[in-house]
Amino acid sequence: MTDLDGAQFRELCGRFATGVVIVTALDPDQSPAGMTANSFASVSLDPPLISFNVDRASDFHRAIATAGVFAVNVLGAGQEALSRRFAKTPGPERFEGVGFRRTDTGRIHLAGAIATLDCETFERFPVGDHTVVIGRVVGGEAHDGRPLLYFRGGYRNLA
Ligand SMILES: Cc1cc2nc3c(=O)[nH]c(=O)nc-3n(C[C@H](O)[C@H](O)[C@H](O)COP(=O)(O)O)c2cc1C
Repeated sequence: MTDLDGAQFRELCGRFATGVVIVTALDPDQSPAGMTANSFASVSLDPPLISFNVDRASDFHRAIATAGVFAVNVLGAGQEALSRRFAKTPGPERFEGVGFRRTDTGRIHLAGAIATLDCETFERFPVGDHTVVIGRVVGGEAHDGRPLLYFRGGYRNLA
């Protein structure tokens, strides 16, 4: 048992500076879906695995719960508005006016990302109120550019 409340938990975890990604996938209707996340991590080199965690109460969970493939778009310093959009705007409207490309493998690549990791779903398991998603990285692309950072509940840039 613990007395820790949600605010304290956020206060503690918020001291860990992260980058910001938007995970994209096709939902069961084959429409593009995406969600801002900072729970991204690399997991294993051989095989090359990454992870992120999705709230099971989120709309995006519906997409990622069935998607066989997905992409992780690492946001650049100028993409704060995109990060906010993919955290707040209602799901179906998220892609309106946003530059993206649907690949022939059924993945969604967002324009301006400093890296895109093409993943196959390797494992999914429920932990607490989230689902941990493990992806096998099968390809990707990296571009020059500074990252968007997240620290203590706010967006930052490298000094
Ligand atoms: C910087 C940032 C990081 C976030 N990281 C995560 C995350 O790792 N996992 C998650 O489930 N939600 C995360 N969220 C919240 C989701 O983006 C948000 O709850 C979700 O998009 C809700 O919309 P939906 O229900 O339409 O999917 C994060 C939000 C922000 C702004």
